[in-house]
Amino acid sequence: MLPAQPKAPMPTLAAAQPSQFAVENVDFAYPGHAVFRGLSLRAQPGEFLVLLGPSGCGKTTLLNLLAGFMAPASGRVLLDDSPVRPEHPALGYVFQSPQLFPWLSALENVRFGLRMAGRGSEAEQRALAIEHLALVGLADAADKLPHQLSGGMQQRVALARTLALQPGVLLMDEPFAALDAITRIKLNEETLRIWSQLRQTVVFITHDIDEALFLADRILVLAPAPGGIAAEFDIALPRPRAAATRQLAQFAHYRQQVSACIADLQLQPLAA
Ligand SMILES: Nc1ncnc2c1ncn2[C@@H]1O[C@H](COP(=O)(O)OP(=O)(O)OP(=O)(O)O)[C@@H](O)[C@H]1O
Ligand SMILES: [Mg+2]
Repeated sequence: MLPAQPKAPMPTLAAAQPSQFAVENVDFAYPGHAVFRGLSLRAQPGEFLVLLGPSGCGKTTLLNLLAGFMAPASGRVLLDDSPVRPEHPALGYVFQSPQLFPWLSALENVRFGLRMAGRGSEAEQRALAIEHLALVGLADAADKLPHQLSGGMQQRVALARTLALQPGVLLMDEPFAALDAITRIKLNEETLRIWSQLRQTVVFITHDIDEALFLADRILVLAPAPGGIAAEFDIALPRPRAAATRQLAQFAHYRQQVSACIADLQLQPLAA
C-alpha cells in the first residue's frame, strides 16, 4: 500500500494574503494584430483595480497576460515580484460565463477546484464549499444543478468556486456583463461585501462606467488597440458603498469626468 500523501493546507474563510501585480513595458500582438505597446501598470495588495475599455481594446488579452495564460512578446508580468505562472496558487479567475459542470451540483462545482488542488479531506472540502456558497448567498442551493439556477446564481457559484481556493488576487473578466441590470447591481454590491471581508487584490474588467465607479479604488481606462493606459482615476467614494453611493453628487462628478475622458478618446462604451 502506498503511504498517504501529505495534504496541502486547507484554506479558510479568513482573509487571503493579498498579492501585488506589476506589468512592465509589455508588448503583445496576435499574428498581424498588435494589442499592446509599452503597457505598464501596477496593482497594490488589497486594491480594487478596474480596467475600463471598449470591446476589442484588449481587456481579456490583458487578463490572460496577468494570469500567465499568455506570455508578452517583450516586457514582464510580475506577481508578488516573480514572473507570473498560470498554476500560481494565488491566482483566481472569474470568467464572463460561469463555466460550471452541468452534471455537478453547486456544491460539487465549488468542491471541484479543491479536489483538483488536493486540498483537505472530502469532508473538509464539502465544509469549505458550503461555507463559500453561504458567502455568496447560496447556502440553500448547494444540491441544485446549474440548469436549476438563474444566470446570476450560476455566476455566484463560479465566484464561490474561485474564492474557495483563497486566491490572493481575483481576476474578473466582465463577470456580470451577461446579466440583467438589477442582478448586476446586486452582484456589484455582493462583490464589495465579499471583498471587504476577504480583501484580495482584485483586477476587474468592465465596459460599464457606473459599474467601474461603484467598485473601484482606481480606474484605468484602456486606449483602443494598439495602446495602453489612456487615463487613470482615483475613486475616493466613501466605503462601504451601497445603493445610495450611486446617488452621490461625487459619483455623478466622477461619471462626468470618466465619460468625458472616453469621449475625448473617441471610445464607444457599450453600456450606458
Ligand atoms: N486569438 C486571437 N487571434 C487574433 N486576434 C485576436 C485573438 N483574440 C483576440 N484577438 C483580437 O485582439 C483584440 C483584443 O481582443 P480582446 O478579446 O482582448 O478584447 P476585449 O477588450 O476583451 O473585447 P470584449 O469587450 O469584446 O471582450 C481584438 O481586436 C480581437 O479581435
Ligand atoms: Mg473580453
